[in-house]
Amino acid sequence: MRPEKASDHRDLLRELREAYREYAPVSADLNRRAEAVLVDGGSHALRLMDPFPPRIASARGAWVYDEDGHQVLDFWQGHCGNILGHNPDAVAGRLAAAFSQGQGLQVGLTDRLQVEVAELICRTTATERVGLTTSGTLATMYATMLARAFAGRDLIIKIGGGWHGGQPWGLKGVGFRLDGSGFDHADSGGLSQGVIDNVLLTRYNDPDMLENQFREFGDEVAGMIVEPFIGGGGSIPATQEYLTTARRLTERCGAVLILDEVISGYHFRAGDLGALYGIQADLITLGKMVGGGMPVAAVAGRADIMSLAVRAGTVGGNEVRFSGGTYSGHPASLMAAKAALEYLIDHENEVYPRIFALGQSLRRRVESAFAGEGIYAWCSGGATEYDALPGSPLFRIHFPYAVGRQLVCPDEVFDPAICDVALRTSVVPLALLLENVHVMQGHGMVTAAHSEEHLDVLEDACRRVAHRISVSEERQAD
Ligand SMILES: Cc1ncc(COP(=O)(O)O)c(C=O)c1O
Repeated sequence: MRPEKASDHRDLLRELREAYREYAPVSADLNRRAEAVLVDGGSHALRLMDPFPPRIASARGAWVYDEDGHQVLDFWQGHCGNILGHNPDAVAGRLAAAFSQGQGLQVGLTDRLQVEVAELICRTTATERVGLTTSGTLATMYATMLARAFAGRDLIIKIGGGWHGGQPWGLKGVGFRLDGSGFDHADSGGLSQGVIDNVLLTRYNDPDMLENQFREFGDEVAGMIVEPFIGGGGSIPATQEYLTTARRLTERCGAVLILDEVISGYHFRAGDLGALYGIQADLITLGKMVGGGMPVAAVAGRADIMSLAVRAGTVGGNEVRFSGGTYSGHPASLMAAKAALEYLIDHENEVYPRIFALGQSLRRRVESAFAGEGIYAWCSGGATEYDALPGSPLFRIHFPYAVGRQLVCPDEVFDPAICDVALRTSVVPLALLLENVHVMQGHGMVTAAHSEEHLDVLEDACRRVAHRISVSEERQAD
């Protein structure tokens, strides 16, 4: 019988870190150099694991190759942006041909590509106008500014534990604190009190809480930003009831509904996920997959809202400076975007059924590998009777203490009183890496480049990792 609270993993982690230092001496050395010159040793906190991250030299399909000569089976896949796997021919081939013909770096002009990519986005998401930018972070920031300008109000409703990138309105309520405040705090220094006060946190998949908040603050709400499939917050779909409630309440109160589809866009169909719920958002934000592996992001939505994002001075005072960005609409990035989107549209009936089947198989195999050692693992991300997913390539491995428990919101995912957070975020990823398998803090996806043979490798690795955990827990119990 396993304990009903987190085991003490310190000994096991010490053992794993020692083994990892031997496994990756070149990455260790690069990390020493990185810490001397790079803030925090590298970009994006999520990638900077303890004791140091593997430094990747190249990648292809389901695999990445590190500086220490390992071939590692990758389920992180570019922050879950690579639906076609790493460096897919459909995109890389197009870029290689373009570069050899003197195209791709003619930055700072307008071109046909911007038109064509915007047309593809409008067509596949039933939106009227598109603004292009370079990161999901900027897209959600602009969408928030547009909502506030359009509604002429200040308050933004955001999910506690929801990640919309490191922009002011997204930086409240990200990290879970154990002091009882949960998500209810600002997650960064340097924010103005006005921004902090103007973000109201709500609980994912809790329609009653949302009803109450709209009853109390409805007249002040400019907009609500929510993911139809919450990624960073736990890889969990919204229930149909929740999204329908969000749509109804925002509409009734004259607030703008922003569906943040940075992680869900083009992951469930060749278009937005909101459509599968029958929800037309006022604005959607896109990133990751929309760029085919390059830095492209977009806000797309209603023409009357997007029309506020025009050149300064064109309208009467509340226009939003969705502007600037030397590399916005970058030709090489848009070539990748166009190639990826066209591929997904043309191969929709092959790609999605394939990754859904693999996702389902992965969830079953991972859960059963841990169950074999008496460890209850729940792999989230799959479709249920409460949501509108047709299947799902995304997953996260959770370890709730209560056997059979499934988690519905970040408040449960990040609470160490409910599940073994350290096992998910630290122990299992490091132990898997020693087996040449990469997931990021338990978080990942399957791509069109994965196959059942790759899942055999993952399943075997999970069995060995589960055994290692179980031996360590038995040692502790003795
Ligand atoms: C839902 C969501 N919104 C926004 C972002 C930020 O996107 P980016 O990392 O491109 O700035 C992310 C990134 O993970 C995300 O998952």
